[in-house]
Amino acid sequence: MDKNELVNELARRRGFLWPAFELYGGAAGFYDYGPLGAPLKRRIEDIWRQYFVISEGFAEIEAPTIGVEGIYQASGHLSGFSDPLTSCKECKEVYRADHLIKHIIEVPDALSNGEIYKCIQENEIGCPECGGELSQVYEFNLMFKTMIGPGNKMTGYLRPETAQGMFINFPRLLRYFRDSLPFAAVQIGKSFRNEISPRQGVIRLREFTQAEAEIFIDPRDKSHPRFAEVADIKMKFYSQAAQERGEAEEMTFGEAVEKAIVAHQALAYYVARTYQFLLAVGVAPDKLRFRQHKVDEMAHYAADCWDAEVFLDRLGWIEIVGVADRTDYDLKAHAEASKVNLSVFMHYDQPVKRRKMVVKPNFKALGPRFKAKAKAVGEALKALSKEELEASNTVRVTVDGETIEIDPTLFSFESVEEEIRGEEVVPHVIEPSFGIDRIIYTVLDHSFYADEVDGETRAVLRFLPAVAPIEVAVLPLMDRKELSDPAKAILQELRTRGMRVDYDTSGSIGRRYRRNDEIGTPFAVTVDYDTLEQGTVTIRDRDSMAQVKVPRWQIADKLTAMLSGLLKFQDAGDLVLPSKKE
Ligand code: ATP
Ligand code: GLY
Repeated sequence: MDKNELVNELARRRGFLWPAFELYGGAAGFYDYGPLGAPLKRRIEDIWRQYFVISEGFAEIEAPTIGVEGIYQASGHLSGFSDPLTSCKECKEVYRADHLIKHIIEVPDALSNGEIYKCIQENEIGCPECGGELSQVYEFNLMFKTMIGPGNKMTGYLRPETAQGMFINFPRLLRYFRDSLPFAAVQIGKSFRNEISPRQGVIRLREFTQAEAEIFIDPRDKSHPRFAEVADIKMKFYSQAAQERGEAEEMTFGEAVEKAIVAHQALAYYVARTYQFLLAVGVAPDKLRFRQHKVDEMAHYAADCWDAEVFLDRLGWIEIVGVADRTDYDLKAHAEASKVNLSVFMHYDQPVKRRKMVVKPNFKALGPRFKAKAKAVGEALKALSKEELEASNTVRVTVDGETIEIDPTLFSFESVEEEIRGEEVVPHVIEPSFGIDRIIYTVLDHSFYADEVDGETRAVLRFLPAVAPIEVAVLPLMDRKELSDPAKAILQELRTRGMRVDYDTSGSIGRRYRRNDEIGTPFAVTVDYDTLEQGTVTIRDRDSMAQVKVPRWQIADKLTAMLSGLLKFQDAGDLVLPSKKE
């Protein structure tokens, strides 16, 4: 088995990920999170909240997963959210056409359907299943369509991204944030795409979890007040130019913005926060890069986009996050379709004074000419701008439905000073869009390793304590009442302190350690006869397999400190067993 198979087998057997609906034959593109997978997912989502809700002061909302047709008409998903498809003329199997040429063209998204088909023909690519001839390439819309209510009166779509829920709530969010920019809303929730060939486990699902932030910024100022906090972080940037050269460039975020490799601070800041978050959940830094989209690869709404890509065994470089500059695309589209103003009035720090020419009606002449209507004609004239008046040869105004021609002697222009307090702007949007399932698979893949211990293979998930679904295993040396009673008391004490603890008595102590290594439990607490005689317990460290003895009464405090990183394992107590021996 290669690593990819080992990880998938472990994930299935130990209750991380199960193919869904197995009882009824299954369906590609759907997975269940089992008893270890679900807490791993929650913990990763909670760390995401720490980074993108709590630390940034963003607002988390929850919108419906079904949306009415108008949303996706305006957003462009109805016309543009499709993938290129080809099918086998023999066995009728259907494929993502761009995926079939990925080994020939690194970024096939940039090609037209005709170009993809030409590439398939030129390279004599046949059906991967039966070798049969492939059809012309055509578009397939990825949204799931449904009907809302009885009678087929209203069409709905399962959302293909959570983002639209934030855009269409823009007026309410703006009010919530007291009518000022910048502000942001986030959602963590399910998105749905009727993917053509979901054959890569949770990498390509038909129902998957996204965590997305829509950050509404003032388009006139794309700096970021916290940029200094990330400016010195070094990372690999695989820009459009670097892709031409074939090698990512390492530099700081400060340099990347200075050299205009990342267009502005606001985009760079969220790429940096994405980088920090991915490392915090256990993505390996040497298997992570940020790749800028090529111009013709960009989604229909994006002006710039940087993908976090990870290297996965067998699958190669895979996108797990996209950080896009969506500009004002979505707000303008929804404003036009809904006829609701989605701009923000931005107040200047100081009002600006400006002189402008205005129309001055000649009321002395208007009175005798228009009698009772003179005032209304004068007001209608005032409402016209100098430019409008000068643009036409004949000046006309409409009063009480009557169009009246005005002689140029009936008005003049005068210069007045006006005070301008601000201006209307349509915010631009920076969007970090995370695929939680892909991140989970990456954490499994990057954490997994196997070593040899006492002639046996030991499989380990080296989870960071912050994501481990089980943080501590409590193990009585033997399943005897004099040991299991104090072990159960420790179990309860640790659970009461909020730790995720498992209790295991089945099999030899060595076998129980292996079982916990395999699911990534960072620490095991063993209760033995020293516990009864000397009041000590043993803590075993998953990665080094070393053991320390700790007074029983200190166990909860020490584990809390070790799990939060405040106390190092080697400083926790007296070493009784050095690394790699059990
Ligand atoms: P791909 O090109 O791989 O289909 P995408 O460019 O369509 O991905 P985005 O539209 O940018 O992906 O979606 C944002 C994030 O949502 C992605 O980075 C990814 O992590 C996740 N994602 C998208 N589609 C799927 C899917 N079918 N299954 C699981 N996660 C997905
Ligand atoms: N919201 C970005 C995407 O899902 O494509």
